[in-house]
This record gives sequence, C-alpha cells and structure tokens, in this order.
Amino acid sequence: MDMREKISQALYRALTAAFEQTDFESSALARSLELPPEPEMGDMAFPCFSLSKTLRMAPPQIAQKIAVHVADPLISSVEVKGGYLNFFLDRVYFAQKMIEAVQGSDGAWGQSDEGSGKTICIDYSSINIAKRFHIGHLSTTAIGHSLKRIYDYLGYRTVGINHLGDWGTQFGKMIAAYKHWGSPEMVEQGGVQALSELYVRFHKEAEESPSLEDEGRAWFKRIEEGDKEALAIFNNFKEITLKDADRVYDILDVSFDSYAGESFYNDKMDRVIRELREKNLLVLSQGAWVVDLEEFGMPPCLILKSDGATLYATRDIAAALYRKDTYHFSKCLYVVAYQQDLHFRQVFKVLELMGYEWAKTQMEHVAFGMISYEGEALSTRRGNIVHLDELLDKAQEKALAIIEEKSPHLEDKEKIAKQVGVGSVIFFDLFNSRIKDIDFRWDRALNFDGETGPYVQYTYARCCSVLRKAGEVDTAPDFSALDDKESLALLKLISLFPETIRDAAARNEPSFVTRAITEMAKAYNKFYYEHRILSEDAAASAARLALTDIVRAAIANGLYLIGMQAPPQM
Ligand code: ARG
Repeated sequence: MDMREKISQALYRALTAAFEQTDFESSALARSLELPPEPEMGDMAFPCFSLSKTLRMAPPQIAQKIAVHVADPLISSVEVKGGYLNFFLDRVYFAQKMIEAVQGSDGAWGQSDEGSGKTICIDYSSINIAKRFHIGHLSTTAIGHSLKRIYDYLGYRTVGINHLGDWGTQFGKMIAAYKHWGSPEMVEQGGVQALSELYVRFHKEAEESPSLEDEGRAWFKRIEEGDKEALAIFNNFKEITLKDADRVYDILDVSFDSYAGESFYNDKMDRVIRELREKNLLVLSQGAWVVDLEEFGMPPCLILKSDGATLYATRDIAAALYRKDTYHFSKCLYVVAYQQDLHFRQVFKVLELMGYEWAKTQMEHVAFGMISYEGEALSTRRGNIVHLDELLDKAQEKALAIIEEKSPHLEDKEKIAKQVGVGSVIFFDLFNSRIKDIDFRWDRALNFDGETGPYVQYTYARCCSVLRKAGEVDTAPDFSALDDKESLALLKLISLFPETIRDAAARNEPSFVTRAITEMAKAYNKFYYEHRILSEDAAASAARLALTDIVRAAIANGLYLIGMQAPPQM
C-alpha cells in the first residue's frame, strides 16, 4: 500500500479521462506528487504547473479539470488550491489497507526484489594492520554495514569488502622493531596495542640511530620478495589485528564477504602497469611513473615509484578490475572519508582513460565527514585517540546505569544495556547526512528523549509492551477508530517508508532510514498520549492495537536496516 503509487494511478486515470490523451507517464506523475507541509492542505498534492505548457491551459484550470475525474476508494476528496490539486485520503479505508499490507509483509515492510540479478560491492571499514580500531573508523563501518543491509533488503546481491591496509614500508619497520624489542609473547599478550607501541618506539629510536631505517627497508623488501620469516611475522601481525577488530565487529554485528586488502593485489600489479603502458597512459615524472590528469584539473596519479614500488592508487585500480571481473558488479561503493576524495576521483578517471566505461557510472565514493569526540579533534600523533572497543564498552556501561535507575526491575538488563548502548553509538553516527562532520557526545547519544537511538528503541519497546498487555485479541478491528490525525500521520509515515528505503539506497544515505524511524517514533508517542489504546470499545482497541503492531514492525525493520537491535523491553 504505497500511497504515492496509488494516488499517482488515480491521477493518471483522471488526467487521461480529462484530456483524452494517454501520453502521461505515471512514474513521472508519482515523482511529482508532493507532501504538503500541513495536513490541512491535503495528504498529497499535485502541482499542475509543468503541464501548463503542453496542455496550453492555466494550472488552476488544469487542476479543476482533473478534479472532476478523480475516483478512487483511497481518496475521499480533492481540492483545487492555486495551481495545485490536493488529495485527501479516505482515512478509514487507508488505515485498513495499510494494516493489511504491513501485516501481510512477513515482518519485512518495504522489502523487495527490485535489485535481483544485480551485484553491489561495498568497500567499508577497511582497517589498517597494526593499528587499533579507533573512532575514526566508526563511520565507514556503520555506514557500510547499513548500506549492505539496505541493498540486501532490496534484493541485490551484496559483497562486503574489508580492503585491509596491509601493505607499505611501515610494515618493514614494524618487523625491524619487533626483531629488536619484541617477542611472540609480547605481541600475543599485548595485541595491537603492543604492535603500535613497537612502531612508535621505532620512530623514536630511529632519530638516534638512522641505520634502523635501512633495516626497515630491508625487511620490507623481504616481505615483497616473499621471504618466509618476514611473511610469518607479518601474517602474525595481521592475525593479531584482525582478532582485535573482530571483537568490535562482533559487538556491532558486522561481517564481511572478503578481506582482500592491499597486499592481495601484489600479483595483480603487473597487469595494471602493462595495460597502462600499452594504452600510452604512463609518463615519467620526477623519476616516477604517473598518469597525467592535468586536463581534468587533477594532479598526476602516482602509479610506480622509481624503486619499482606500487602505490595506494595502483592497488585500488587493480582492486577495481579484480572486483569487476570477479563479481560483475553493477555498482562498486567506497565508503571512505571525504579526505580521500581526490584519490578516488583520480582512480576512477584513470580507469576511464584505460577504456573502462563502467568507471564513469558504476564506481562511487560514498564520502563521509570527520568525527570528533566531546568537542575535540582526534589525532593519532597527539595521542588523542578514542578506541572503538573502549567506546562501545563505555556505552554499554552508561546504558546499564541509566536502565538500573529507570527500570530497576527489568529482566536481562545487561543484554538490553548492550543493545541500547551500542545502538546509541550507531544511531548517533547515522542520524545526520553522512557528509556532515560529527561531534560525538555522550549526553546527546544516550539521551532517552529527543532524536536518539534510545528514544527510538524505547518507542519500539513501548509498542511491544502495549501489545503484550493487550494479549490475544479476538475482536475484529473497527478501522473507523483510526479516523484521527495522529493515526493518519503515523499511517502516512509507514506508507512512505518503502520509498525512503529505496531513496536511501539510491543516494547511499542510511540517515534517511534513521530519520524515518525517528519520525515514526515521535508520531507514535503523540498518538499514544492522545488516545486510549485499550478501552471499553473492544473493536476500537483492536484497531489501535493493529496500528501499534505495524508501527512496531516498521520501526524494527528500520532499526535492523541501520544495524541496530530492537529490545522488546526497556
Ligand atoms: N585503509 C584505508 C584507510 O584507513 C581505507 C581504504 C579504503 N578503501 C580503498 N579501496 N581505498 O584510510
């Protein structure tokens, strides 16, 4: 029951009848339907201005002419206001049809198979080896994970890729440091923290004894040449990092289909270089081989250094080709901070110059803003780092303290605190459009009122509790009890939710979903305060309970799509 679609169909029929022609396009009509700012102005409005030219008629006249032909059980009346035709829904009919539709959707409102046969590669999280998982990698993880769920929900095949940062001279240095000051026990026990300390120590000591740098280079060369010892140590570093990251991924319920990172492409570099050469794209510049991008207003893209080493961009070009060949994607998304905007524009352009037309339309950098913590910018160099596992642990503790205070008698408090605490962090990250910078603040993330994760989860739990209290309902619902404006507002939000999910995919913007469920929660609470759900009138109660049930379902779907859990009690 998509109100936009139903109204556009009615509009199409009316237009065709009024003007005795059929070349109107119903999908275009659907898109042009607007949601009036005030419900008094109609539940949906059709602006007639764009038709005025082809029909050679003033917009109000067009509206008038269409109005007399509108006939649909969903529409109770229409009204002409200026150049607009305003539609008013038959509230009772709408309520009944909506409830039937959502309850008939098998607990997955807005799910579809429109993406069937298409594959979306999503490069997200993409952490770096030997570095602890910090808050700077929260957004890529949360946005990417949510997009994966959204595309899955719409029937696409998705491939989640953790493009590990596991290549570079720094790993040679780390091995050198490990050989001097480390031991298997030390890194086993200390984990990634121990690894990053080794790295810091390397830099300090290298200031005194510059020969360390040569050692680092030598070790990196050994990794490159596939030396057994070097690889064994390096792979151990990798394992330690992933074990540490897995703890975060477990808490967030995030997973990947591939961990093919930068080093995975070692044996796929030759093809890139060869192809670039054959296509006459490589030029020598200051000793390095680059692709000149001046005519596109970009600095040259570095491909090969004088010592034969390849670069981040070379690996991304190889990765794109590999993904295309392997997965035949119809879209390849890179959920990476906006600071890498130039990098991706260069990579996409080089692919295009290589003749890969798909690079123009199928590659997308899904950029996001910076995150700061309690008003402070984060900087690895100044030691101002917020580790993600610690942040998530703290979120659970804080949530538990709040729950202990608010609902001391609740069962499973620990479990709920985990859902609420972790959820509050995800929600906070996914509430604003992704390109905006965010400042993470506890008092705002964990606030139970306002536009927060706990608020939406609380509303979900409230729906569940209302339904639990009501128990089994065997009276047939009287939908005329849903004739009020609070019910209507809720029904409209739920009706438009599938469209919101599609838009979220089209724009790669999970925040659309976050906002939609926040609006639903607000609308439900309004409804809850204005109406007695359980009353003497059993048929009216049944209708309000049915409405509660579909709000519950839609919020649960939305929470799932942004990667949050739905606690049935709070
Ligand atoms: N590891 C990189 C970083 O932490 C992000 C990699 C993004 N993905 C890619 N294909 N370049 O900044």
